[in-house]
Amino acid sequence: MLTVYLYPRPEQAEEACARIIYHQVKKKPNSVLGLATGLTMVGVYKKLCQWEQEGKVDFSSCTTFNLDEYYGLSPEHPDSFYAYMERNFFAQLKSPPQARNLLNGIAPNPEKECREYEEKIKKAGGIDLQLLGLGRNAHIGFNEPGSDFQSRTRLVSLTEDTREANLKDLIQLKEVPEKALTMGIKTILSAKALLLLATGEAKSWALFKSLVGPTSPEIPGSAILLHPRAMVIADHQAGKKLIELVA
Ligand code: GLP
Repeated sequence: MLTVYLYPRPEQAEEACARIIYHQVKKKPNSVLGLATGLTMVGVYKKLCQWEQEGKVDFSSCTTFNLDEYYGLSPEHPDSFYAYMERNFFAQLKSPPQARNLLNGIAPNPEKECREYEEKIKKAGGIDLQLLGLGRNAHIGFNEPGSDFQSRTRLVSLTEDTREANLKDLIQLKEVPEKALTMGIKTILSAKALLLLATGEAKSWALFKSLVGPTSPEIPGSAILLHPRAMVIADHQAGKKLIELVA
């Protein structure tokens, strides 16, 4: 089942998204969480950190797996997703999750790294809740248009559009890396539940195409239509084209 929640303002969408993660961890303290990066998620992590500091929720028994990582960036690099996660979430928590997993952007053998990541997810019992952002070309993780729905974690090339869009997220680099390691579409669909958050007008086309279908590898976000338990949260800006459809 697909549930879509639309909120007038981005902060409301971010808080609603954080609340779903909160309830997941309350229900199952040792949840396996799939995490995402990007500017969209900053407000979500901020809320979760606030609630943790107030003693309302405890992530220490959780296991986390991040969706993706730039290839060629070490965890210490400020533009790595590892550094993003430390900055925005893990380092802000009193008791961070004990088991935090991210793909290693400088793994000497990326195929082996990706294979082992899949094995680690399986060993952890699979992902209970996978958080997803949406690229403006409808990518999820770093699965660009054309990604096979059967794809697993792998090394991919980023499109020019994504490299340009993600320039806004960079701290030190002047250019977005050309490649990345990402969970595949099949890996994402294997999670027990999906939670996609999209905010801002730049995501409006991608959200519309992803939710209205038809499902197609050209619109990677449309893969969520194949999942039995997917939740989508958006603000009115990102939901603009969907709202126009019913208005
Ligand atoms: C990157 C990540 C995606 C994320 C996307 C959107 O490309 N790999 O997982 O969804 O950025 O980023 P933003 O939230 O900054 O728009």
